[in-house]
Amino acid sequence: MGIEVERWEDGELVRETLDRLDRWTVHASHSVTVHLSDGAETDLSVPVVQRPGEINGDRLGVGACLWDGAVILAGYMASEVPRRKLMGARVVELGAGVGFAGIVCAKLGARVTLTERGCMVPLMEENAQANGFDGRGRDTAGGQGTCECRELTWGGAGYEERAGNLGPADWVIAADCVYVDGEGESPSVPAFVESIRRMSGPGTTVVVCQEVRSTDVSATLRRLLEENFKTACRLVPPQSLPAPLRAEYNELFVCKL
Ligand SMILES: C[S@@+](CC[C@H](N)C(=O)[O-])C[C@H]1O[C@@H](n2cnc3c(N)ncnc32)[C@H](O)[C@@H]1O
Repeated sequence: MGIEVERWEDGELVRETLDRLDRWTVHASHSVTVHLSDGAETDLSVPVVQRPGEINGDRLGVGACLWDGAVILAGYMASEVPRRKLMGARVVELGAGVGFAGIVCAKLGARVTLTERGCMVPLMEENAQANGFDGRGRDTAGGQGTCECRELTWGGAGYEERAGNLGPADWVIAADCVYVDGEGESPSVPAFVESIRRMSGPGTTVVVCQEVRSTDVSATLRRLLEENFKTACRLVPPQSLPAPLRAEYNELFVCKL
């Protein structure tokens, strides 16, 4: 894994390639390209269109930039999931932000729907296009994968039915989607997990990566995933992942109904 970044520092243009996760540098960069390679099957370059100036703003907010959880999630899908299980598979990503993890799946041959809050959809579309997917989601480079963008705001009016209409998917994926509120609680987790459940059927595998921001959010997410996904709910040990993707501050769950 390598992350090529370009940013301005004290009036000078700095270009470097990071060989590890470094969210602060990524969030300060106007140009980001992630290279994922396992030296065998996978060799991908994924340009990321992001808006570093908007990450602290009210409109796009944290969705404006790429987060470590998305790189870990994408790396897991690219290196730990056999390619034949992604080829032609239906993948739905929730809270996709710049759409990175879903776009990686589409480049690996999956039929992907990226979902987000309405204000984020244009940025996801821009990322899909930067990676060769046209306005109808088709791969202009001739690959089998497709990548479409849809609005889905969990907790919003009618979200349960809209989430259900996107399933059942073969894979439901999400990175770094739930937060702690001012009281130290995690009000967004139930609607987030309910959306995932509605997209899931007996053949679905759910892969969720979440940064550990508060004990309440982590515990609530884990409890609700375990309650809803009874066949399996496994926490992937970081040391089982390729070295550049090991981050103790992120939890990666793999679940089945
Ligand atoms: C920290 S960002 C992570 C973005 C992306 N998954 C990544 O890891 O790079 C959290 C994302 O969750 C999205 N989000 C938050 N609440 C949401 C909701 N109720 N419905 C849909 N998306 C939501 C935000 O818009 C934001 O893009």
